[in-house]
Amino acid sequence: MADTAFSLNDEAIELPHNFRKLSARRKRDVLAEILDLSDDERFSSLASEDLLDLADVMVESAVGVMPVPLGIASGIRIDNRVYNIPMAVEEPSVVAAATYAGRLVSRGGGFHTSTTGQVMTAQVAIDGYQPGADARIREAERDLHAELVEILGPMTRRGGGYRGIDVSVNPESGLLVVYLHVDTRDAMGANIINTAAEALRAPLERLTGGTVLMAILTNAAPRRRARSSFAIPVDRLSRGPYDGETMAQRIVRANEFADTDPLRAVTHNKGVMNGITSLALATGNDTRAIEAAAHAHAASDGRYRALTEYRVDGDHLVGSLEIPLAVGTVGGAVGFHPVTSFALKVLFLDGDVEPSADRLSRVAVSLGLAQNLAALMALVSEGIQKGHMRQHARRLAWKAGARDEELQELARRVWDNGTFNIQTAQELLHALRADG
Ligand code: MEV
Repeated sequence: MADTAFSLNDEAIELPHNFRKLSARRKRDVLAEILDLSDDERFSSLASEDLLDLADVMVESAVGVMPVPLGIASGIRIDNRVYNIPMAVEEPSVVAAATYAGRLVSRGGGFHTSTTGQVMTAQVAIDGYQPGADARIREAERDLHAELVEILGPMTRRGGGYRGIDVSVNPESGLLVVYLHVDTRDAMGANIINTAAEALRAPLERLTGGTVLMAILTNAAPRRRARSSFAIPVDRLSRGPYDGETMAQRIVRANEFADTDPLRAVTHNKGVMNGITSLALATGNDTRAIEAAAHAHAASDGRYRALTEYRVDGDHLVGSLEIPLAVGTVGGAVGFHPVTSFALKVLFLDGDVEPSADRLSRVAVSLGLAQNLAALMALVSEGIQKGHMRQHARRLAWKAGARDEELQELARRVWDNGTFNIQTAQELLHALRADG
């Protein structure tokens, strides 16, 4: 056991010094021993031996996987096609809400989208350059492009590739920044654009007499935007005590609240991202990059605002959302992790639709808009807690030990009872079992 010995001190339990070098299985055994893991904790994070092996090649020091529920928001019409959208998310009500609003919009005509294409941008920042360096870079653009021909060859053959270079001096830092634009087609493109930007380091240093500080993509993805909009008859929006027209006006006011109040805007935009990030996670895309870009975009005029827009136009409610969306259908974890291939198959079930990054971004932005509409409709009518508490009742029933049909019945009784805590759920379970 020398290789797995661990030591205790007053502060913390320490992992063995060679933990990093153990096999993934051995790491799990060590953790199970140290942390006194229950079988549930141990096996639910493993899910399957194959997934552990996969995790081991995906990240360093893997000890398991973190399974998140995968749901499907079905029947959502986008650009005159109906999609079933996979969503990986731990929060109750998100899939149900997206489906609800997505179908509401679908019945009223559906979502209509546009994109600016799949161009990623990298930045090469240069320090200590000589006067006139920016002009020399512009003059040498052909040569710089030539340096990239081989690296970008496969991308160019797929119709993407080099899309130009810009240069500017940052007045605050004094850094000279070169912007490299590359159409990365169906890939999110981080690897290819970072490789291309790094290949420019030496030529740029020669041209400018300066030193490259760094070369890296910008996750802001300013040339990779997706937009979705809908127009639905207001009479479809009636809910609770409110007729459709009142609901439409209340939705517009709710958007105005978010657009003019950054504290509200954060929550409003978080709701938009509930949809987008869930789809991104299900398809193996980089959720952190997408979130960072969306929130930066929300603050693009210097103040953090709502990402969405709503207005009443005649007897229609018109909603729209535009954000940068760097997603891919190939490369990175996409297609490598078996769940992501499954998710993409569900999404592109209709063989007539190309499983492209462009399509995925159109679906994602529409899903974000649907998610926001669902949240606003609930918030300006009965509030969101009602829907949440129904799901919470199911979780409490599960925690109390109910399963299958018993779980459905106990969740119903917890909901009817209206007291949402584990003790009440357990008492109700006893009563349910006593009832036979
Ligand atoms: C909850 O995950 C998302 C909402 O808070 C979004 C919103 O407030 O608009 C319901």
